[in-house]
Amino acid sequence: MSFPQHRPRRLRATPALRRLTAEYRVSPAELILPAFIREGLSEPAPITSMPGVVQHSTESLKRAAAEAVQRGVGGIMLFGVPSHRDATGSAGLDPDGVLNRAIADVRSETGDDLVIMSDVCLDEFTDHGHCGVLAADGTVDNDATLAVYAEMAVTQASAGAHVLGPSGMMDGQVAVIRQALDQAGHQETAVLAYAAKYASAFYGPFREAVDSQLTGDRRTYQMDAANRREALLEVELDLEEGADMVMVKPAMSYLDILADVAAMSPVPVAAYQISGEYSMIEAAAANGWIDRRRAIEESVLGIKRAGANLILTYWASELAVWLKETA
Ligand code: PBG
Repeated sequence: MSFPQHRPRRLRATPALRRLTAEYRVSPAELILPAFIREGLSEPAPITSMPGVVQHSTESLKRAAAEAVQRGVGGIMLFGVPSHRDATGSAGLDPDGVLNRAIADVRSETGDDLVIMSDVCLDEFTDHGHCGVLAADGTVDNDATLAVYAEMAVTQASAGAHVLGPSGMMDGQVAVIRQALDQAGHQETAVLAYAAKYASAFYGPFREAVDSQLTGDRRTYQMDAANRREALLEVELDLEEGADMVMVKPAMSYLDILADVAAMSPVPVAAYQISGEYSMIEAAAANGWIDRRRAIEESVLGIKRAGANLILTYWASELAVWLKETA
């Protein structure tokens, strides 16, 4: 095939031509805003390593959720920061705990207008900071953790979450959560499986966001950055176990994985543009090294182009305003 007369620049000549011929667009409806709520706060508290992101108080979280609805954002993903932690993460199972209360508060604020998602994981709630409970030898005990996740999931569904996001990378987690939800009468609560979640240095700022107590790393349960094929196994297992949606995380360093998963997944595929991806762009922009808005838009468009149907990004609400301007 050859097109000797073709001059691709013709279609780039004006903003209107470029808009008309754009192959991909992002819409606010496919964005999900991750949000942190910290127990006992009366005012939101800034997160130093994530300029512009806060740990919310109850009131500021409700305002952020209402604003997201008003801007057309599709969903919110809630993370709780408790004041007390213990070895088994029991605050995560307390129906009156910070995360479960936040789910109920946001649900009463926005009803069914915003898809309310919540993190099913123990790292925010354990005093050692791991995503599961520990065995006597200090390793993360897969099957003992599953029992806790099942109970946590039912509590979050009862609090009013529409979608649960198990992020701990325990084997079999989707199956036990699905079974527990069904037994408790929550057949309609969906599961967004963190299917291909990699052990990443780019989670750094999230540790501050949730005051994580972790020393060490999560390499015995999260995936190795060297592996590509394995992501498909993780996705297939989660689909067999009943995942309604699957996620690739982080996003920007894993766009090949996202494209692979998008090519084979029969269910919607989410990508999580994580804390470190956010902070890198914010830090470079604050130094005047890159154009902030253009870098944000380009990064999210790249994630969309690679195949994401849903994008979790800390810029969701701000981006929604820009997208409306240019729609
Ligand atoms: C685990 C969890 C993490 C993130 C989301 N869920 C931390 C981790 O796996 O270390 C990271 C999100 C981000 O960095 O923005 N509960």
